[in-house]
Amino acid sequence: MRFFKAAILAGTVAIVAATSGFAADVKIGFVVKQPEEPWFQDEWKFADIAAKEKGFTLVKIGAEDGEKVQSAIDNLGAQGAQGFIICTPDVKLGPGIVAKAAANQLKVMTVDDRLVGADGKPLEDVPHMGISATKIGEGVGQAIADEIKKRGWDMKNVGAIRVSYDQLPTAVDRVEGAIAVLKAAGFPAQNIYDAPQAKTDTEAALNAATTVLNKHADVKYWVAVGLNDEAVLGAVRATESVGIPATNVIGVGIGGADSAINEFKKPTATGFFGTVIISPKRHGYETAMNMYNWVADNKEPPKLTLTSGQLALRDTYQAVRKDLGIE
Ligand code: GLA
Repeated sequence: MRFFKAAILAGTVAIVAATSGFAADVKIGFVVKQPEEPWFQDEWKFADIAAKEKGFTLVKIGAEDGEKVQSAIDNLGAQGAQGFIICTPDVKLGPGIVAKAAANQLKVMTVDDRLVGADGKPLEDVPHMGISATKIGEGVGQAIADEIKKRGWDMKNVGAIRVSYDQLPTAVDRVEGAIAVLKAAGFPAQNIYDAPQAKTDTEAALNAATTVLNKHADVKYWVAVGLNDEAVLGAVRATESVGIPATNVIGVGIGGADSAINEFKKPTATGFFGTVIISPKRHGYETAMNMYNWVADNKEPPKLTLTSGQLALRDTYQAVRKDLGIE
């Protein structure tokens, strides 16, 4: 009996050693909805650093629609991966993604966009890392309100382009946070115009914002908000294309990856006034580490992690990036 117990104990120890000891056998997927977007490139870059540090294999997959998500998960299963991190192209795919992951015996955690169930409520069992959307949106609104004041504009003569993507909850929270602060600062509600974008990229935002500008050609000054830098850049490009001077435009984005930084590097300021820099390092490196610890040591990630942001302008972005450890 005593021998038997000892054997079981020894067996347990051996299994534990086997699961946590062989990082080389760990394979983790990192699936993103828009691989060409600098934010997602940066997430991958930081996830790669985690993979190198721990010695696991990172499989990066772009999946722009539901079908691609399904095949990405099957593919990971077939390759013998143990888990994956995903920013889904559509949060309503939630239950399907969870089922597919289970069928392939893959652990799943989400980044950026949180999965929802059939009732539209977040799937709280799936570990998630996202940004503190409302708070960051409020930061955008405050930056714009402050700059309107500084430029001495009368808010009566200012229009706001709300580049929107309302099927994505984090997008709603971000723009609503911004709008709430603008309104509290005295911005007239009737001067806020919705510009629904078909996709969360610059081109879609440019098209949506152009429609708004054409409809309200009499408005002299414009501000723009949206879920990310691409959305706000689209609105800024639209103002340029209809001949509104950059000095009459205040756009503040969210992100702080190359799309925003390249704008700041231009010799003269554009209407892209600032961005709230969020951390691709946390979203890429930390989620990859979380998944690794889950696979290798059975340490489940926290159910919900919300990251913060920091406002950056043309003349402060370098310092802010340094501060966030992304340069
Ligand atoms: C969403 C947006 C991205 C980025 C992330 C940050 O996925 O589409 O551009 O802002 O959120 O969490």
